[in-house]
Amino acid sequence: MNPQPVSSGIINGMTEQSNRLITPEARPDDRLDQAMRPRSLGEVIGQTAVKENLSILIAAARQRNEPLDHVLFYGPPGLGKTTLAHVLANEMGVNIKITAGPAVERPGDLAAILTNLHASDVLFIDEIHRLGRVVEEVLYPAMEDFALDIIIGKGPSARSIRLKLPRFTVIGATTRLALVSAPLRARFGAVYRLDYYDLAAMQEVIVRAARILAVSIEESGVIEIARRARGTPRVGLRLLRRVRDFAQVRADGVITGAVAAEALNLLSVDQLGLDEVDRRVLSTIIEKYGGGPVGLSTIAASISEEPDTIMDVVEPYLLQLGFLERTPQGRVATRQAYEHLGLTYNRAAPQPGLFDA
Ligand SMILES: Nc1ncnc2c1ncn2[C@@H]1O[C@H](COP(=O)(O)OP(=O)(O)OP(=O)(O)O)[C@@H](O)[C@H]1O
Ligand SMILES: [Mg+2]
Repeated sequence: MNPQPVSSGIINGMTEQSNRLITPEARPDDRLDQAMRPRSLGEVIGQTAVKENLSILIAAARQRNEPLDHVLFYGPPGLGKTTLAHVLANEMGVNIKITAGPAVERPGDLAAILTNLHASDVLFIDEIHRLGRVVEEVLYPAMEDFALDIIIGKGPSARSIRLKLPRFTVIGATTRLALVSAPLRARFGAVYRLDYYDLAAMQEVIVRAARILAVSIEESGVIEIARRARGTPRVGLRLLRRVRDFAQVRADGVITGAVAAEALNLLSVDQLGLDEVDRRVLSTIIEKYGGGPVGLSTIAASISEEPDTIMDVVEPYLLQLGFLERTPQGRVATRQAYEHLGLTYNRAAPQPGLFDA
């Protein structure tokens, strides 16, 4: 099934991203990314709990001959939100229309999208936290009552009419659940969090991709790449492609553990999968701000990165590793972060009071 963009603003509306290896959507590899996407639930690796819940959701909807309930996926970039949206549509045998929060600028844009939907269609809204308030208000009755309220005319003669919409399914995806408004969140019947993949699942992802790309890879090569992929399939796939290039140009085309390690070192991706930007974030906190606490925007300004990139891509993984803590006063580097960078930890008691920003 070919996804059709429903809004011409779809590309322009996307956030601009740098050329970082682990950016959410780096352009040149996008087509390959799509070719790598699992199409059925059975092909999806890892995420066992989410998959099980989804299979129940699908089976129940099929048995009742109803469209799927609205589904919201959240979690760090590259873990499979878009993939799962396509898988759900495939499994239900329905069409998927794709748009993104920033692309739907006016209520009219959304109305146009909604009135073009057929019964049971999936409307995938990426970056759903970036929908404007006014647009969101059009979405509420559409999701809840499958209705579209339109105002006709202006001033005293204006009147509102209600259009019936076919029953359809919204699948939303976001890296920032906290920015999805409560009324919007409440309209999703199912909300799933995607987590980082463990090493075994990452190895499966790499093996599967190597097979699709017809690359020769030894088990030690798989492990080396999987270990440095920060639990993120997109990162793993990207590293595999770069290591494949290296193996082709500098070795005999076979990815061994040693070849993978050499290629990844050359890319400045370290043993834990941290790259230049991750390490700069940590060393800035430690060297410029005495280990913190320091605010996110200050860190971003110090290393000339976008606060959004740090928040979406860098921070979740550093938090997961236990290298960073969020305190009410700002970000604090932990002892493990110092040790990873080979620096001496000489701080007094760490800052108390963790909270989720
Ligand atoms: N469970 C999985 N098994 C195999 N491959 C996967 C899995 N999850 C994701 N991938 C692969 O990883 C890549 C990134 O996945 P996807 O685009 O779905 O991530 P995302 O969560 O939508 O990211 P973003 O937040 O940046 O939009 C895709 O190429 C996909 O093929
Ligand atoms: Mg996506």
